[in-house]
Amino acid sequence: MSAAARSGEAAGLMDRMYRHQRHIYDASRKFYLLGRDGMIAALDPPLGGSVLEIGCGTGRNLIKLAQTYPNAVCYGLDVSEEMLVTARRNVERAGLSHRITLAQADATAFDPQVLFGLGGFDRIVISYALSMIPPWQGVVAQALRTLAPDGSLHIVDFGDQAGLPGPFKAVLNRWLTLFHVTPRPDLGETLDALARAEGVRARTTRLYRGYAVHAVAERGVA
Ligand SMILES: C[S@@+](CC[C@H](N)C(=O)[O-])C[C@H]1O[C@@H](n2cnc3c(N)ncnc32)[C@H](O)[C@@H]1O
Repeated sequence: MSAAARSGEAAGLMDRMYRHQRHIYDASRKFYLLGRDGMIAALDPPLGGSVLEIGCGTGRNLIKLAQTYPNAVCYGLDVSEEMLVTARRNVERAGLSHRITLAQADATAFDPQVLFGLGGFDRIVISYALSMIPPWQGVVAQALRTLAPDGSLHIVDFGDQAGLPGPFKAVLNRWLTLFHVTPRPDLGETLDALARAEGVRARTTRLYRGYAVHAVAERGVA
């Protein structure tokens, strides 16, 4: 299958899933997409810095980001045009259309120059999207290559569940499968290996007994 066909397939799947869910997405996901606000609080972009969210969904994180860092210039991409309809409306309602630019694109094959006129970003955020993208390692690799010289990549997602009780894990995983979500237990190790290949330092923190993971890779840190 060609790359364009794969992107079209991903867009179709996500559009079908979020066509109706997008209306209750933020209200429902706040209970289980844990760690997003902590990631935003630790982002600390430079003055006037650029921040890209890959898989931005309804724009919830970008709006929080823009409000938390009033000098940052924000960009978001998502494969689902349905999600972007909600994101555009939310951004407009928040009065942030002049600071947040949104575009439809597949995280596995996007050109930041074509989409946003930028070659690299000071901060890149990927929040609960890698667990929905089958070739997620390629997305991490591209994100690392798309960092500005002192840029950093910030990931939050479902974790390895190592400290969670067995029955809870079983129910959680069955439920996540319904939403096409596959936790990536080796996210930390994979990021570490990909980051080392790029000369970037990475660190991973397990949250809530491994329910979630917060990983950061920083370019320019010895
Ligand atoms: C669980 S939502 C997370 C949204 C947002 N990041 C958040 O934290 O609320 C995952 C998002 O990733 C998007 N997505 C899935 N596959 C994608 C791909 N291949 N390229 C870009 N976005 C993708 C979905 O459309 C969806 O909006």
